[in-house]
Amino acid sequence: MTSNIIERLQWRYACKKFDPSKILSEEKLNILKESFNLTATSYGLQPLKMIVIGNTEIKKKLVPLTMQQKQVQDASHVLVFCIETKLTAKYIENYFDRVEEIRNTPRAILQPFETFLVDDFSEKSSASIDAWMEKQAYLAMGNILTVCALEGIDACPIEGFEPEGYDSLLGLNALGLKSVLVLPIGYRSDDDMFANFKKVRRGIDEVIINL
Ligand SMILES: Cc1cc2nc3c(=O)[nH]c(=O)nc-3n(C[C@H](O)[C@H](O)[C@H](O)COP(=O)(O)O)c2cc1C
Repeated sequence: MTSNIIERLQWRYACKKFDPSKILSEEKLNILKESFNLTATSYGLQPLKMIVIGNTEIKKKLVPLTMQQKQVQDASHVLVFCIETKLTAKYIENYFDRVEEIRNTPRAILQPFETFLVDDFSEKSSASIDAWMEKQAYLAMGNILTVCALEGIDACPIEGFEPEGYDSLLGLNALGLKSVLVLPIGYRSDDDMFANFKKVRRGIDEVIINL
């Protein structure tokens, strides 16, 4: 199993050319949706949402907002990882409502931690909260990238896009969201030469320190 995972990670690459005729099944999409929701996040707060775009017209409109990277048009779907525009005390309280309901935990037991989190976040600047939320989005994308590799789904992580353009096109502000990462997903085109390129990595001896 372990070596199989390494094989899958060797198989994956940042796909530069998708086959537009190959569309992901609902089953595969559901696996990715579940994986997103199961991603570990700091404190479990999940200050994230993932937009799943399958609409051809919308995908086309994303190209000029993505430094002309055609992957967002040709991929089966485009995932957009978003963070909350503002992490409110109410948002944190809702999390504890869920813990209380799902685990049947008395609120009195949760209260000290809840108060700590509400106070802690109220003292942070919005820039530092945004940076924290963005880290959670990167974690979620990392998780999805690995799941894609295991499921034989091609993907290309994309930071090269205009977040404000995406927010406006997708109406994200009205949803209380901001886009931070883009991930076209689908199946590689037979003539994507990048699929055969050797991986360029620093090497285990250079990136690992055993003590
Ligand atoms: C956060 C992040 C942002 C990236 N942004 C882009 C991008 O905008 N366009 C692109 O073609 N590749 C992008 N990449 C892909 C990287 O260049 C690629 O993962 C790296 O060169 C390693 O190659 P491999 O993924 O094919 O093994 C991004 C990767 C990451 C992790």
